[in-house]
Amino acid sequence: MEKIALGICSSISIYKSCEIIRNFQKKKFQIQVIMTKNAAQLVSPLLFSALSGHKIFIDPFSDEFSEEISHVALAKEISLFLVAPATANMIGKFASGIADDFLSTFYMAVKCPVIIAPAMNESMYFHRQTQQNIKKLKSLGVKFIEPEKGYLACREEGWGRLAAPEKIVEEGLKLIDKSHSLRGKTILVSAGPTREFMDSVRFLTNRSSGKMGYELAEEAQRREADVILISGPTNIQPPRETKFREIQTAQEMEEEILKHFEKADIVIMAAAVSDFKFAEVSFQKIKKRESSGKVDLIRTQDVLDKISHKKGKKILVGFAAETENVIHNALKKLKEKNLDLIVANDVSVEGVGFESDFNQVSIIHPDGRMIKTGKKSKLEISKIILDEVEEIIGKSG
Ligand SMILES: Cc1cc2nc3c(=O)[nH]c(=O)nc-3n(C[C@H](O)[C@H](O)[C@H](O)COP(=O)(O)O)c2cc1C
Repeated sequence: MEKIALGICSSISIYKSCEIIRNFQKKKFQIQVIMTKNAAQLVSPLLFSALSGHKIFIDPFSDEFSEEISHVALAKEISLFLVAPATANMIGKFASGIADDFLSTFYMAVKCPVIIAPAMNESMYFHRQTQQNIKKLKSLGVKFIEPEKGYLACREEGWGRLAAPEKIVEEGLKLIDKSHSLRGKTILVSAGPTREFMDSVRFLTNRSSGKMGYELAEEAQRREADVILISGPTNIQPPRETKFREIQTAQEMEEEILKHFEKADIVIMAAAVSDFKFAEVSFQKIKKRESSGKVDLIRTQDVLDKISHKKGKKILVGFAAETENVIHNALKKLKEKNLDLIVANDVSVEGVGFESDFNQVSIIHPDGRMIKTGKKSKLEISKIILDEVEEIIGKSG
C-alpha cells in the first residue's frame, strides 16, 4: 500500500482533514498524519490517530519514536507529502528553511512531490509576505492548491477558505501519478556551454548557464526516469542520483552523447554546443609578441545531425536559441534534424534565456502545433516540455 504523509496545521479548517484522510483511504492509500503542536491544541490527535490507524507525529524529540530518527525514516517511505490545512506560519517556515518542529523538519527531509493547501483569513493570504513565500516555494517545485472564496471562520466573505477535500485529493492523486510517469525510461540530457581552447589558458565559449538542462534533468528524475546528464562547465550542483558526466569541448560532448545514446529512450539536447573551434590549438600559452592576433575558426561536428540519422524509436528533442526569425529557424531545424519536438527561444530578449532563472519559449511539434509558454521559471518550463514528451510517448504506445 502506498503511503502519504499529511501535515495538519492549526487552522480552523482542520476538520476538513478528516475527509481528506477518508478519501485517500478509499483510494487504498495509507496515511501518516503529522500535526503541529498548535493543531493538537485545536483538535485532539486521538481523532486523527483513530481515523488513520497510526500514531501521530508531533514532536521530533518525543521518546515514543526514539528507536529511529522518525522524520528521516518516514521521508523515505512516502509517495506524497501533503499539507492541508497549511497556515501562513508554516508556509513561511518552509519558504525560509526553518526546521524547528516535526512538520517543518520533515519538509526538509522529503524527496517526494510536495503539495500545499493553504487556509487562512483573506488579509493573511494576500499579505505580500505570504504571497512572496508562496512564490518562493513554487519556484522550488512545490505545488499549491489555491484556497477558495467563501464564508470564512472570521465570519467574513473572502478568499482563504481551504479548497474542497475532494479537489485536494484529486490534485494529490494527479501528482502521485506524475511522480512515476517516466519510470522505466532513460533520458539523456545535454546541458551548459562548451569550451573550445585556443591555447592552454584561453577558450571560446557562450553565455549558457546550464540551468534549463539541469531543471529538465531534475524534473525527469522526479518523475522517476533514469537520467544521464552530460554537461559543459557550470556553477550548478547536478541533481542527486543522475549519472553525471562533465565535458569541456564540443568533441567531448559528442563522444559522451554517442557513448550513452543507445541506452536512451528520450534525448533532450539543451546544451549550447559551440559551432566553431580553433583550427590550431597550442598546448602552451601563446605569447602576445609572437602572435599576429589572427586566428582561424573551423566548424565543429554537428552532434544533433549525427544522432538524428540513427534515432530509431527514440524521442529526440532539440533547442533552438535564436536572435532573429526564431520560429522560422526552429521549424527548419525541427525538419532537418528529424526532431520530435523543438523548444525555440529568442535569446535576445532581456530577463529570460541565457543565465536567467526564467525562460519564454515556443514548443513546436512536427505537425506545427505550438505551445507558447510566456515567461515562466525554467522549472515550470521543464515540466511543460516533459508533459509534451509524455504525450508523444502516449501516442507512440
Ligand atoms: C482558532 C484559530 C484559528 C486559526 N486559523 C488559522 C488559519 O486558518 N490560518 C492560519 O494561517 N492561521 C490560523 N490561526 C493562527 C495560527 O494558529 C498561528 O499562526 C499559529 O502560530 C500557527 O501554528 P502552526 O503553523 O504551527 O500550526 C488560527 C488560530 C486560532 C487560535
